[in-house]
Amino acid sequence: MGFVITVDGPAGAGKSSVAKRVAKRLGIRYLDTGAMYRAIAYTLDKKGVAPAENGELTRSVASLVVRLEGQGIFVNDENVTESIRSYRVDRVVSGYAALKTVRNALLNLQREQAEYGDLIADGRDTGTVVFPEADLKFFLTASPEARAERRYKELLRKGEAVLYKEVLTQIHERDRADSNREVAPLREPVEAIRLDTSSMAEDEVVNELAFIIQSRMA
Ligand code: DC
Repeated sequence: MGFVITVDGPAGAGKSSVAKRVAKRLGIRYLDTGAMYRAIAYTLDKKGVAPAENGELTRSVASLVVRLEGQGIFVNDENVTESIRSYRVDRVVSGYAALKTVRNALLNLQREQAEYGDLIADGRDTGTVVFPEADLKFFLTASPEARAERRYKELLRKGEAVLYKEVLTQIHERDRADSNREVAPLREPVEAIRLDTSSMAEDEVVNELAFIIQSRMA
């Protein structure tokens, strides 16, 4: 098991972009656990399988093989790396991520990633459930408005027709769903280093995380 760093926080706090850049700079592997939930949500939603614990869902989840390849993610050999970033997936993913069957299906694959060397993992429960013994834990957060603004700009850049107000409402809904679900809710690990990124540029956040990680790993 390598040196494990976890980065948790609410939707749109910038975790993925920051963790990815820090990982690249320090030459550490990066695990985006949110992408795994998105991959399952995208596939089940497309197949018309509702986000509810029942036989159909159990069978469907069992028939899916999620595979990570470099920065890409595949479900049963379909490359879903781009498709999982749509606004549609933003809206449906929390429903699937709340289900025990879905979470159990991904837990081993997530833990396995630490066996290959040092790792930075980001998500909602990486410091609490996936890697409770992690060497270093971060909690990145920002105001709902700042997070909605970032997500809104990102969606516009991709050519999705959305309204800022809609994105803000959806951020609030996702916060509520991710924090109030029974299984592995979003929680700030007690020992985590907390960073409010509302008025920080992405570069600053990257520099700060990289600096802390390097000092701890030294
Ligand atoms: O970080 P993200 O927006 O890509 O995450 C997508 C969804 O997956 C989010 O609504 C919550 C869920 N998720 C989770 O439940 N547990 C994780 N470790 C990571 C993400």
